[in-house]
Amino acid sequence: MRSLINILDLSTGEIEELIQVANDIIKNPKAYSDKCRGKKLATLFFEPSTRTRLSFEAAMYELGGNVLGFSEAMSSSAAKGESVADTIKTVSCYADIIAMRHPKEGAPLVASMNTEIPIINAGDGGHNHPTQTLADLLTIYREKGSLNNFTIGFCGDLKFGRTVHSLIAALSRYEGIKVVLVSPKELRIPNYVKTELLEKNKIEFTETTELEEVISELDILYMTRVQRERFFSEEEYLRLKDSYILNEEKLINAKKDLAVMHPLPRVNEISVSVDNDDRACYFKQVLNGKYIRMALMLKLLEVE
Ligand code: NCD
Repeated sequence: MRSLINILDLSTGEIEELIQVANDIIKNPKAYSDKCRGKKLATLFFEPSTRTRLSFEAAMYELGGNVLGFSEAMSSSAAKGESVADTIKTVSCYADIIAMRHPKEGAPLVASMNTEIPIINAGDGGHNHPTQTLADLLTIYREKGSLNNFTIGFCGDLKFGRTVHSLIAALSRYEGIKVVLVSPKELRIPNYVKTELLEKNKIEFTETTELEEVISELDILYMTRVQRERFFSEEEYLRLKDSYILNEEKLINAKKDLAVMHPLPRVNEISVSVDNDDRACYFKQVLNGKYIRMALMLKLLEVE
């Protein structure tokens, strides 16, 4: 049985297939309402979540299946010292598929090595978040009509932001992508993303600290939250948390068909006034996340 741990576990052909299925679900949801009758999804969230967990659960309900799980480590036997491997062996007796979020990088991979049922990585530490990437790719496809030929700016916490790392990995396989990395010096993208993903795949990229200087070049602006929970010092977080605040004034110089994306939750980095701008796509991203997770679970459960 296949698991999804890293976005690169899926070929570009498989991603295209998932996007087509998601688009079909959007057009014709009734045709899918019974596809997972009798199936159970377990959501094991050892870290906070609103969208990811609830969209997985809503996705399974909309496919006619059922859901069980926990939403915090302290309410599971992890609080008593149980290992991830033992938790997964246990839950595998109750569920057909597992979506798991964990603060430790690699925990979902360990989980997948201890079960026969599919594991979906719903975020592991500052590392990866492949299903957010699928939501992002569906959004880009629906907004821009293609996954090729655009300039995308990533702005904010590029060091700890796992959604950024996964989306860059995914985009490194498409044509004509230019990447602009906007962050404070302290929150620059990890070196491995530059060498193993961008340079290796010959993706053109630049780094800057100034959003205003580059905003007019962008087709997509992917804003991110400064990841407070991954900082070693609260002082450093407080110093960096408001490095970028996107508002209507900054958007004056942006393209008229810019797509402003954000995986959410937002704290301060996008003013609420931007929500009414036609360029704001972040709540569409939320809805797309549910549809692409429906498509993904159909695929991993091998439902026709
Ligand atoms: C992101 C995450 O958990 O990495 N949220 C999400 O799943 N949509 C982004 C974040 O927490 O900032």
